Amino acid sequence: MASSIKRVGVLTAGGDCPGLNAVIRAVTKSLIKMHNIEVVGIKDGFLGLIEKRAQMLSANDVSGILTQGGTILGTSNKANPFKCLVEKDGRTVVEDRSDATLENAEKMGIEALVTIGGDGTQSIALDLAKKGLRVLGVPKTIDNDLRETDFTFGHDTAVQIATEAIDRIHTTAMSHHRVMVIETMGRNAGWIALNAGIAGGGDIILVPEIPYTIEGICKKIEARLADGRLFSIIVAAEGARSLEGGQVIKERVNDPSMPIRLGGVGGKVADDVEDATGIESRVTVLGHLQRGGTPTAFDRILATRFGALAADLIARGEHGKMVALKGNEIVAVPLEAAVAGPKLIDPDSSIIRAARDVGTSFGD
Ligand code: F6P
Repeated sequence: MASSIKRVGVLTAGGDCPGLNAVIRAVTKSLIKMHNIEVVGIKDGFLGLIEKRAQMLSANDVSGILTQGGTILGTSNKANPFKCLVEKDGRTVVEDRSDATLENAEKMGIEALVTIGGDGTQSIALDLAKKGLRVLGVPKTIDNDLRETDFTFGHDTAVQIATEAIDRIHTTAMSHHRVMVIETMGRNAGWIALNAGIAGGGDIILVPEIPYTIEGICKKIEARLADGRLFSIIVAAEGARSLEGGQVIKERVNDPSMPIRLGGVGGKVADDVEDATGIESRVTVLGHLQRGGTPTAFDRILATRFGALAADLIARGEHGKMVALKGNEIVAVPLEAAVAGPKLIDPDSSIIRAARDVGTSFGD
């Protein structure tokens, strides 16, 4: 049955992540080839909708981008139609421009919008849906902290990059008998540190969900020393929190509309461990390396399956939902459920148990 929808907008918002282009490609090709629906690519996330900046996308335009990192549409992790920062009388004030944004969508002939993004993006999408826009979310983030989906696309690539880094740090740690700390991203969720830490054989993994103490960390390092293991690898999520001191917050946050910027816990742990044990301890902060470059095969496949189902749902008139991975199936879940708080690691889960069973310490 031919869809009544003629034109669909697609945007990528929030921090970039490997696999965004693979989703843009899948959505665009599926809508055009399977449903004869036109596609408009909105520039720089919600900013493009606020400022009416977009381009028509053809199947040719998205050909060859499957393997490319980043996003051909650009992104913004600041733009929010409900909270626009505008200059008024020499002051920066927050203004709700959601009505004008919806008018822009209408003027551009956009009858439904595919929002490729994380929790922040999908929360904005939900608010726009409440005002009448048909939206369909696709879950993106290296952090893997979105509810209702087993995995977000981009996470596998970040884990792969972090694992390779741990492997490389391992050999130099062994040679110099050092403690090496590798700091990963992930905000308040420890998924990247946990998964890469297990894959890379980290001796100590620090995640926000399990508070650590320096004594807990040193106990493991000293037990290894007693076994003749003269080096130790610590994988620390940027959001890891110590029992006494909480999280380490980066000083340089000059935009009050942005979430608190985490970072620095790796350096702090290295210093504290060196002070406590006398063993030379160094830190490597992986930072944006984890978000760049070509997606893994898993992420390309997941992104393609997400994009194709999003297109199909839209063509069938469904909206207010997010595509999600449950087991081996791609399904649609309500947007409300997906944004009802972050998906964090359960300290009693089988993955934590498996890590503990092979001797991994969580510094607790
Ligand atoms: O949400 C993805 C993420 O990479 C987090 O892991 C990290 O804390 C944050 O974004 C960094 O954001 P920015 O690119 O704005 O520094």
